Amino acid sequence: MKKIAVFASGNGSNFEAIAQACADGRLEAEVALMVCDKPGAYVNERAERLGIPAFTFNPKDYSGKSEYEKIIADKLDSIGVELVCLAGYMRIVGDELLSRYQGRIINIHPSLLPAFQGAQAVERAVEYGVKVYGITIHWVDQTLDGGKIIAQEAFRYDGHDPEEVHALGQVIEHRLYVDTIRQLL
Ligand code: GAR
Repeated sequence: MKKIAVFASGNGSNFEAIAQACADGRLEAEVALMVCDKPGAYVNERAERLGIPAFTFNPKDYSGKSEYEKIIADKLDSIGVELVCLAGYMRIVGDELLSRYQGRIINIHPSLLPAFQGAQAVERAVEYGVKVYGITIHWVDQTLDGGKIIAQEAFRYDGHDPEEVHALGQVIEHRLYVDTIRQLL
């Protein structure tokens, strides 16, 4: 069984979608580790309910990114993780993880990249008056939401409510992330 890790910072709906796909056989893989940089985030409750091992840390407890990323990379190595899926992990990945995992780390982002990189992508797109929204899955490099695109899906929306765009986008995200992971594995 191939081992994957999912990194998240908040709600964790993509983490749960991936974990469910592993549990019901749509993915021939196991979520062997959930990594979270926010001790109070809801994704931690999801991991506990699903019985998935978690490493949750507070970046403030470390001297810097390279210190906590070394711990994470050592854990990924010891488990034998083959693919790292960032799912709402709101941090730029640093050298420590990239030097060992570049080419095996992917990210999902709620826009048609390269448009609207970074946080609040949906809110900024609505503000801009965008009519065609989308979801992108891409390889992770040292840039913010950069890296070569693997998969993209667009949808039309004519309103002005970011919550509606989020809801429409997340339905696509959960399906597209599982399908993309399957192809990559
Ligand atoms: C997702 O919409 C994902 O595309 C976005 O965070 C959300 C996490 O949702 N990621 C980014 O904005 C990355 N720059 P979830 O916690 O419910 O999976």
